Amino acid sequence: MDIFTLKHQEPTKKDFIDTADFEQSEIVDIIKLSRIVRSYIKEGGTLESLYHKTLAMLFEQKSTRTRVSFEVAMAQLGGHALNLAPGAIQLGAHETIEDTAIVLGRMCDMVMSRVDKHESIEALAKYSKVPVINGMSDRVHPTQGIGDMITVFDHWPKGKKINDLKIVFVGDATQVCNTLCEISTKLGFNFVHYGPENHKISDEWLEIGRKNAEKYGGSAIWSEDPETLKGADFIYTDVWYGLYDKETPKEVYMKDFYPKYQVNDEMMAATENPNCKFMHCLPANRNEEVTDSVLDGPNSVAWDEAENRLTAQRGLVLYFGRVGQKTLDYIKGQKEVK
Ligand code: CP
Repeated sequence: MDIFTLKHQEPTKKDFIDTADFEQSEIVDIIKLSRIVRSYIKEGGTLESLYHKTLAMLFEQKSTRTRVSFEVAMAQLGGHALNLAPGAIQLGAHETIEDTAIVLGRMCDMVMSRVDKHESIEALAKYSKVPVINGMSDRVHPTQGIGDMITVFDHWPKGKKINDLKIVFVGDATQVCNTLCEISTKLGFNFVHYGPENHKISDEWLEIGRKNAEKYGGSAIWSEDPETLKGADFIYTDVWYGLYDKETPKEVYMKDFYPKYQVNDEMMAATENPNCKFMHCLPANRNEEVTDSVLDGPNSVAWDEAENRLTAQRGLVLYFGRVGQKTLDYIKGQKEVK
């Protein structure tokens, strides 16, 4: 099946909380829309699809890529984004997340939020009457997942069949790992979590991956065996300690992960694939989970991946703003008159 021939469809859900809530065709549709809009903008085309529309960006934690990409996406599409950083609004002091959600939903057209706890994004979605996009919770990072899959398609190994693609996530089973397991198997790829047992991906996520694999082909496994690196098309890693366990002393996590799970030139060579690409959601702790030589090396696509956060956010705000089809029709019309 050529997955890019699927027809554009309206979202079946108000919110984008977790990629696991969506069908393969919906995920493909968001990816397709994102890539078409990127091409159009790169060719010098302009879009005002979100003219006068507003996105509230509610952050409980710091962010570079998520914050900048959503704000730039809204500006490029004719809309406006409000940066509601920690401490800037009443949330957490005098106002609940539920009341905040009601108010934002009455003033803004969409809400994107990075939250400490997944329950908070669910509450925002429940109480806000406008679409809510999850900008990362302690459970998942779905907007990262869309950008990552765009990056995989951008760097697709020549001649590779969908069900033969292998992506290995190395290190700690972060929320990025959970989403990668879900979205990569939903697209029919082979997913491996290569990491120590005390940081392994949960059985719940492996089961979600296996169920996707039954439906779409591919596979989902966890392994500590370096043999599992062989044949990887993409090696992906994330920091060894997240925002949620930053108090963990460095000696503790270094003991668990170093040197076996550091992505370095030896690990890239262990894939036995000279074309294997390196991915990282960033920010990176250079020379901990990845060496400079790999992150800055010729096989690194981490910077394209960062830029594709913007590619993905444009697609997401158009899709959940329910102007995806209108935008595609507009682009088609512009291309015809050129
Ligand atoms: N990858 C990612 O979400 O980056 P930020 O924390 O900078 O948004």
